[in-house]
Amino acid sequence: MVAKFEVVERNELKQKPDQDNLSFGIHFTDYMFTMDYSEELGWHNKKIVPYEDIPMSPASQVLHYGQAVFEGLKAYKTAAGAQLFRPNENFKRMNKSCERLEMPQLDVEEAVQALKQLISIEQDWIPTGEGQSLYIRPIMYANEPYLGVRPATSYKFLIILTPVGAYYGKGHLTPIKIFVEDEYVRAVRGGVGFAKAAGNYAASLIAQSRAEKLGYNQVLWLDGVEQSYIEEVGSMNIFFVFGNKLVTPQLNGSILPGITRKSILQLAAHLGYEVEERRIHIDEVVSAAKDGSLTEVFGAGTAVVISPVGEIKYKDEVVTIGSGNTGEVTQKLYDAYTSIQNGTSEDPFRWCL
Ligand code: COI
Repeated sequence: MVAKFEVVERNELKQKPDQDNLSFGIHFTDYMFTMDYSEELGWHNKKIVPYEDIPMSPASQVLHYGQAVFEGLKAYKTAAGAQLFRPNENFKRMNKSCERLEMPQLDVEEAVQALKQLISIEQDWIPTGEGQSLYIRPIMYANEPYLGVRPATSYKFLIILTPVGAYYGKGHLTPIKIFVEDEYVRAVRGGVGFAKAAGNYAASLIAQSRAEKLGYNQVLWLDGVEQSYIEEVGSMNIFFVFGNKLVTPQLNGSILPGITRKSILQLAAHLGYEVEERRIHIDEVVSAAKDGSLTEVFGAGTAVVISPVGEIKYKDEVVTIGSGNTGEVTQKLYDAYTSIQNGTSEDPFRWCL
């Protein structure tokens, strides 16, 4: 690849973390990509610079009115070099998030080029252990110093990188326990639930903390109107295996359109499973778990990849899913999906760049 963006070299490279003890989002690499937006110049000042703190005005609009969106994707080290998983999809989704929050659009091709150049510089940071990868976090936020409520006129876009292991820290396929939230809601239709807006995650924390205090890993969100239909889990979309059928909530404006979600639906169909996107009532899940017709549940997202769910708590009911261990369909999808991502099997969908 021909380098396109200016690179400001750092004097000293950092020490890389111990690959045997990688958790999620703690260590950051030597460099980041940065660019600025103004109404007069559009996107400018595009360069790769040493990873460092960013000076910011206390009046920056993001700190007051929350114009901030982000993305998450991963790079893997394969026999042929660094490989990115569906980066175009992430920048396209970022543009949808930006549109909803009145933020400027990215040139998707240019963002992918910038990312590729950054990854080529940082490829020694891609960890190679089982389930490890280099997590990529693009972010955009409003940095105009102004306190009036209106869309900002200036923004910053950054791509930062962090070598990661399993999100939950215990190995990818250790079943987690989820708590069905029946008081707070995550999003409503017409709101920003479909966008990867930073504020969505802030609004979820109170329920997440409560679930954790009760011994649960994550919150399962119900719809914001009837509080009956399943939406998604804190950091991932959710899938149910009823017999040989893989079912996930249909996108409705308040659910995040996960790239892992979309990829798993395609992969499962390719592997011969029947797949369905529809509304799923929480009562259906509880009763199917009890009568054994719900055999597996798993979450899917970039950070978590595929994460089996072994137990669900809804009001006073606690149900075990299947045997409480990782099911056969979950395992098969995990193996097929991760081997495409890490380059150990064919990529029939041409997802990897
Ligand atoms: C991701 O899966 O990349 C996410 O953004 C979810 C979470 C870590 C915020």
